[in-house]
Amino acid sequence: MTAARTPLIAGNWKMYKTEREAEDYIQALLPRVSSIDGADVAVCVPFTDLRAMVDSARGSRVEVYAQNMHHEPEGAFTGEVSPLMLSDVGAQGVVLGHSERREQFGETDRALALKVPAALAAGLTPILCVGETESERENEDTDRKLRQQIKDDLVNVPSERLTDVVIAYEPIWAIGTGKVATPEQAQEAIAFIRALVGDRDAQAAQGVRILYGGSVKADNAAELLALPDVDGALVGGASLQADSFAQIVGAAAAR
Ligand code: 13P
Repeated sequence: MTAARTPLIAGNWKMYKTEREAEDYIQALLPRVSSIDGADVAVCVPFTDLRAMVDSARGSRVEVYAQNMHHEPEGAFTGEVSPLMLSDVGAQGVVLGHSERREQFGETDRALALKVPAALAAGLTPILCVGETESERENEDTDRKLRQQIKDDLVNVPSERLTDVVIAYEPIWAIGTGKVATPEQAQEAIAFIRALVGDRDAQAAQGVRILYGGSVKADNAAELLALPDVDGALVGGASLQADSFAQIVGAAAAR
């Protein structure tokens, strides 16, 4: 890793935590991470927790991200939330293309091709999630899948903005399964993604942050975060407890 890439540890809460629970969590997290240097920290929270988390995290090192958005600034899209609404509430970023949204809610690469630049235009940091299924890995189809997702989802992002996108490599078979990718698998896939960005722009490849996600825990984080191309982690289950999440932040800062 080059000195220019500050690791990012992002906690994806998914559909967990009422506002009260979120408040208790952030009050526990802030003192645990306040003195840890050398890593950026974000919590990616349900829409209903955004306002409270932005207020509580203000002035701290913890950034607050959403987990999805529509690409249009406004319109007749019942049930959707716009990039403008997220930046207006004070969110600093947004998770896009999580495999749960792709698999269970029909999120397409076509939609992501619109969402990623829309997030950037609204001043939000997009965390674009990519990754292969178990059968794609078994069929040695991982590279093709990653190539297709990176190409299609970033097609409308100009080269000079590529480094403002965070990419999360999340092998679907490792999400919520306790089956973490081996360091070799994580490094190989993430180096491959970096090379794909390099096909677009060599300089962007050096600057873009690429995270690993999938069963990251306090006890395996250090090994994954030490890998040369891994610039942080997108953490699901282990981000729900302030203690374990803070330990992962500590592992990123200590590497
Ligand atoms: P787990 O860390 O629970 O495996 O979830 C990973 C994930 O989906 C983060 O976005």
